[in-house]
Amino acid sequence: MRYIQILTIALLLILFNYCKHEPILPEPTNDPEISVNCDPDTVYFVNDILPLLNSNCATSGCHDAQTAKDGVILTDYASIIHTRDVKAGDPQDSEIYEVITETGDDRMPPEPNAGLSSAQKELIRKWISQGAKNNACEDDCNLTNVGFAADIMPIINTNCTACHSGSTPNGNVRLTNYTEISTLAQSGYLLDVLTASNGAPQMPTSGRISDCNIDKIRVWTEAGALDN
Ligand code: HEC
Repeated sequence: MRYIQILTIALLLILFNYCKHEPILPEPTNDPEISVNCDPDTVYFVNDILPLLNSNCATSGCHDAQTAKDGVILTDYASIIHTRDVKAGDPQDSEIYEVITETGDDRMPPEPNAGLSSAQKELIRKWISQGAKNNACEDDCNLTNVGFAADIMPIINTNCTACHSGSTPNGNVRLTNYTEISTLAQSGYLLDVLTASNGAPQMPTSGRISDCNIDKIRVWTEAGALDN
């Protein structure tokens, strides 16, 4: 009898210790928690991390959903958390942070691609240490004087160009310069894919960009999609 009691307590202790070391992962949902103002000390997944991963890692032939190299998909929050390579609060124990800070053959993105800049690595480190949340922020949206070079090109570069450039762009759609972007805008299809309207697929595939950025593209398109 006593033997069984001791054994039970021992088992419970082992179990308890084991559970204690399991990191508490954030609930992997693709709906971000949106703050109305951007705190300069917070790294936001949607604003800062996702565009960086989409252009450097979730590219065709690497960690997009189709290729899923080594089983790793980095196109959206839920997939990123499902890799179990992000330990919320602990960048040093997070495989994703380890591989981007590695030197030599183990580094990601691998040669001959350039590695991430130190500013980009720091963003990822800080995001993980702040809890690897699915967060976003929106500053007051300024819709006056929306221009192609200052407003539209950066939005497209950040959210689309990684998958829509090179010799084999996704969906056979290239979005790398004014002509390509304005042609899509003037057809009305750019706004359709941004809002998944009129039967168009959602672009980017990972989910809607911010309302402010969609509004900027709408204002610019309605004014004639000029090269301004
Ligand atoms: C992570 C990769 C990825 C990103 C980022 C991305 N796309 Fe796509 N896009 C795709 C893929 C894959 C397809 C082809 C599959 C499809 O049509 O659903 C596609 C297809 C398209 C098409 C053609 C759709 C059709 O009906 O044939 C358009 C237009 C488009 N994308 C625009 C955009 C725009 C604009 C952005 C940025 C706001 C964007 N994409 C961001 C992967 C991406």
